Amino acid sequence: MIWNLGSINIDHFYKVASLPSAGETVSANGYTQGIGGKGANMSVAAARGGARVAHIGAIGKDGAWVRNRLLEYGVDVAHIAVIDVPTGQAVVCVETSGENSIVVLPGANHALTGDMIGGALSNAQTGDFLLMQNETNGQVRAAELAKTLGLRVAYAAAPFEAGAVQDLLTYTDLLVLNEVEAEQLLRATGTEFSQLQIPDIVVTLGASGCRWYSDRNDKPVELAAYPADVIDTTGAGDTFTGFLLAALDRGEEMRAALDLALRAAALMVERQGTADVIPDLKEIQNHNFG
Ligand code: RIB
Repeated sequence: MIWNLGSINIDHFYKVASLPSAGETVSANGYTQGIGGKGANMSVAAARGGARVAHIGAIGKDGAWVRNRLLEYGVDVAHIAVIDVPTGQAVVCVETSGENSIVVLPGANHALTGDMIGGALSNAQTGDFLLMQNETNGQVRAAELAKTLGLRVAYAAAPFEAGAVQDLLTYTDLLVLNEVEAEQLLRATGTEFSQLQIPDIVVTLGASGCRWYSDRNDKPVELAAYPADVIDTTGAGDTFTGFLLAALDRGEEMRAALDLALRAAALMVERQGTADVIPDLKEIQNHNFG
């Protein structure tokens, strides 16, 4: 089972011809709203990938519909607290190339208490996964507790903050980060991945696939991405991580899990939106990847 201490946002999507640069105003040619947050996206992806996933998080009273929708998507929402702080929000601008720029207002995601996290994890079993990203508070506390309970800790280091990753290094069994974040981590620690003492590190490389570093392999393993007609890259990394965790949680080998994650991400970039449009296992199985 996967316990995901993760953000929940209301995503506001603006379609633009090209992303505004500093000081520039651009007109959007479309607006939609949906469920997002790196945490919620990963919970939905893991559920769509066939895992049992319980989300640990918080929303405001304005977010009741979000909680209901996560439930519809197969996520256990019993540990999503409804508190007196508004639900997190994200403004997501997506340009024609599929690239995005995102501004997040954390809201309730930064108001989790130790009791909420501890209460949820007291239901976890040895061998379960604790999954986290860097959009909530309480990560170190959760990781400490997870380790005492015999859980495996997976951390997706986004949005990247060197201090946040460094605080979690000793607890982390699986670190997932993109190429830019990987560079930032190398610069911050001044240490090669092989010296970080994290059993598995996965670096996503966008259209080039991913690279897996493991303390069980002599050298990193590269897997190619599947071809895709990119419409919107938002949430593709979250989809990758959710499917990766789902496959690992049911005992699949890392290579097979990464392959599934790459397929899921390839389908995801062909869709506009985040949690609401994440593909499921059947769609992945039925898709001809060429
Ligand atoms: O990774 C995409 C997500 O980042 C969006 O859903 C947005 O809410 C931000 O958290």
